Amino acid sequence: MKRSLLAPAIAALSLACGSNTYPEPTGPIPFEPQRPDLVAPGTATPYTGMDPFVLEAQTRYPTGVDLHRKLVMRTCSGTNGVCHNQKEYPDLHTPATFAASIDAPCNVASGTWDTVYDRCERLGDRFRFAEESFREIEIGWFEFIPGETPDFGETGTKPDASTPGLHLYLYDPIPLERERVGATGTFIRNFIDDQGNVQGLAFASYDTRWWMLDDRRHVFAEVSQYQRDRVEGLVASGIVQGDQNRNGVFGARTGTTVPLINPGKPEESYLVARLRGYMGAESVPGTRMPLANQPPSTVDMLALMCFIEGLDPGAAQWNLSSAIDYTQCSYSADPQSLTLVGNGVTWRQRVLPILQSNCGGCHGGSNPQAGLDLLAEDAYQRVLQASTQKPELKLIQPGEPQQSYLYRKLVGDGSITGTRMPINPLNGDAPLPTDQLDAISDWITAGAQEDG
Ligand code: HEC
Repeated sequence: MKRSLLAPAIAALSLACGSNTYPEPTGPIPFEPQRPDLVAPGTATPYTGMDPFVLEAQTRYPTGVDLHRKLVMRTCSGTNGVCHNQKEYPDLHTPATFAASIDAPCNVASGTWDTVYDRCERLGDRFRFAEESFREIEIGWFEFIPGETPDFGETGTKPDASTPGLHLYLYDPIPLERERVGATGTFIRNFIDDQGNVQGLAFASYDTRWWMLDDRRHVFAEVSQYQRDRVEGLVASGIVQGDQNRNGVFGARTGTTVPLINPGKPEESYLVARLRGYMGAESVPGTRMPLANQPPSTVDMLALMCFIEGLDPGAAQWNLSSAIDYTQCSYSADPQSLTLVGNGVTWRQRVLPILQSNCGGCHGGSNPQAGLDLLAEDAYQRVLQASTQKPELKLIQPGEPQQSYLYRKLVGDGSITGTRMPINPLNGDAPLPTDQLDAISDWITAGAQEDG
């Protein structure tokens, strides 16, 4: 089924490229893992301008260590510790793992393939048959369908995309006329030798009967009971897939690969893109971060952007305890443009005034209805908590109006307990005007921010 969706994309790609050759891996590769060095704090000229966002960022986030402790950790910790459990997101729990995400590839251990971003895809491992002389071919993606491959015998039936066994989907077709061969499939990966040069080495192999299916880019390996452990071991070795998200685009070949944190380039950092939901004009797949908590404010974003912009792309390693340079930072000129709320709908500016004037009469004072005080100092904190009528829902669930009980009470869908809000003491039914409902819905969708 997946195959049939993919086939046109691959066909289009082959038309566009028309080439059967794999780029020769030569020269040193740029990536080296970076380890943090927390010894000597660097200095930066303090910001002495008047912008209140910059001044606050400078106070709250003087260094990358503060950024990690107060922003990254807060964003990560929520329900179940999202950064830890979400496989598509890296572990950012310690300053060391945070520093290691600088210039490191993104979506490496993605739990689900469909949330991988093309610009995170790396050059895939390569495949060939040991007994044949054709050039090794990049692996787009693979799928191991558990179970024993049925015996096809000589009956003329062929495996298809759902047959138990190992399926490989390749960049180029296998240049063999035969449809079925007994051969040793060999998996090749680039390693760096002593001289720092890239070398392709076979890291795994699998001896079985292979099928060349469809356009011969789909290669199928039979798996019998006795071969099962071997194939599971192969899969567990972590074959790098060049088209991890199976959409026909091999991200690394587009030459637009981005790392998690791109030193000097906040706009081209996957981490920032996941907070925003887009990179440039392109939307980024996956749920918008953070999953569980209040999203970063303008001040938070300013600190993050200035931190990334200040990282020297040429550095051998990065020092998180260096001061973030707000004076040199280009984002200090207009911090408000960094708001994640999009159209500027915030609790304080738009939502609270709507609630105060429409709801405050009943949800305020000494005996607020349903125990919900929308005039209280901490009303914002309160609405992020559970409803009393439907404790399984929060009053406001950032990012999800339909899962926000307060919003449901306003639209009056069938699931609510009691009456649609606001109750009009005269006629009982008086929904908020559409533009106000839209404003509240937009605000929730954009992450339900308190301030701009
Ligand atoms: C005339 C009084 C009145 C007004 C005005 C009013 N409410 Fe209510 N509200 C109530 C009463 C009474 C209840 C409990 C009974 C019910 O839900 O029907 C309630 C319950 C609620 C609940 C359920 C609380 C929970 O924790 O589950 C929410 C949410 C709510 N109101 C939101 C609002 C909002 C938002 C507004 C303004 C747009 C508003 N109400 C306006 C009287 C009012």
